[in-house]
Amino acid sequence: MAEKLLEIKNLKQHFDTGKGVIKAVDGLTFDIYKGETLGLVGESGCGKSTTGRTIIRLYDATDGEVLFNGENVHGRKSKAELKKFNRKMQMIFQDPYASLNPRMTVADIIAEGIDIHGLAKTKQERMNKVYSLLETVGLNREHANRYPHEFSGGQRQRIGIARALAVEPDFIIADEPISALDVSIQAQVVNLMKKLQREHGLTYLFIAHDLSMVKYISDRIGVMYRGKIVELATSEELYRNPLHPYTKALLSAIPLPDPDTERTRTRQVYDANEHNYNGEEPQLREVTPGHYVSCSEAEFKQMTK
Ligand SMILES: Nc1ncnc2c1ncn2[C@@H]1O[C@H](COP(=O)(O)OP(=O)(O)OP(=O)(O)O)[C@@H](O)[C@H]1O
Ligand SMILES: [Mg+2]
Repeated sequence: MAEKLLEIKNLKQHFDTGKGVIKAVDGLTFDIYKGETLGLVGESGCGKSTTGRTIIRLYDATDGEVLFNGENVHGRKSKAELKKFNRKMQMIFQDPYASLNPRMTVADIIAEGIDIHGLAKTKQERMNKVYSLLETVGLNREHANRYPHEFSGGQRQRIGIARALAVEPDFIIADEPISALDVSIQAQVVNLMKKLQREHGLTYLFIAHDLSMVKYISDRIGVMYRGKIVELATSEELYRNPLHPYTKALLSAIPLPDPDTERTRTRQVYDANEHNYNGEEPQLREVTPGHYVSCSEAEFKQMTK
């Protein structure tokens, strides 16, 4: 049995906007195993980014727990404890333009975490780390003294990855890391992430819109709908045997490579009212080993008979 790196238990993030409460994340329970990539997909506004940010403690959780190696991430923490979590959990962002300070050199951007966490004893060691990180992400040491605007989108995302790697994290949340990049560059960045995962034993939460790329990188995939997980399974199982109607609708929207089939096939539309829950709260139930679906008791019986 794979070891758990993160345990997320009934996690909630409700925003009180003054005009009402937005239940952006509304009761998520799932584990992330050491060394895996867990993909998180779902339509815009379903709560993917909020989930990532709450796990990493950019927001205090409204309710629920996040355990990292068995330790609670939320709640009262000493400065030293917070620093430790900040180092172990890093984030890569969608927009490599907005997430890099334009006035800092690449070396200073990459070394920021090294400085904060005191990971280099001398200036020379600091620069050696920067050079080595640049090479690790497919750039080179001549890039160290340049500024972000001198790079392409794909190269900037590599700088963002080097910055995250600099503090030797165990867990990286990648929030749509390739959505802003040219299609031709996307696979390169995903392949780099896969290589780094193998070499450094990293665990990823990979947030995505693009269902074809998420299948390629993820070991398991969680499908989110309105702040909840409606289905969770290995990538293969999810694509071969989607059980929740929302997952089916999402999959039916992926463009097919063959134009003839693409023209004639029908897309499914999900309507949350199609369930007959009769006031019963649907729950995430394990239909086959490792394949979880949010459903009522009656739906569960239907799926398992
Ligand atoms: N800081 C905030 N204050 C109030 N509401 C917020 C805040 N952040 C997010 N929301 C709302 O919470 C919901 C979930 O947003 P979130 O950004 O997590 O969705 P998402 O799945 O990442 O969407 P996208 O695919 O567009 O990135 C949305 O309704 C959003 O408007
Ligand atoms: Mg988002």
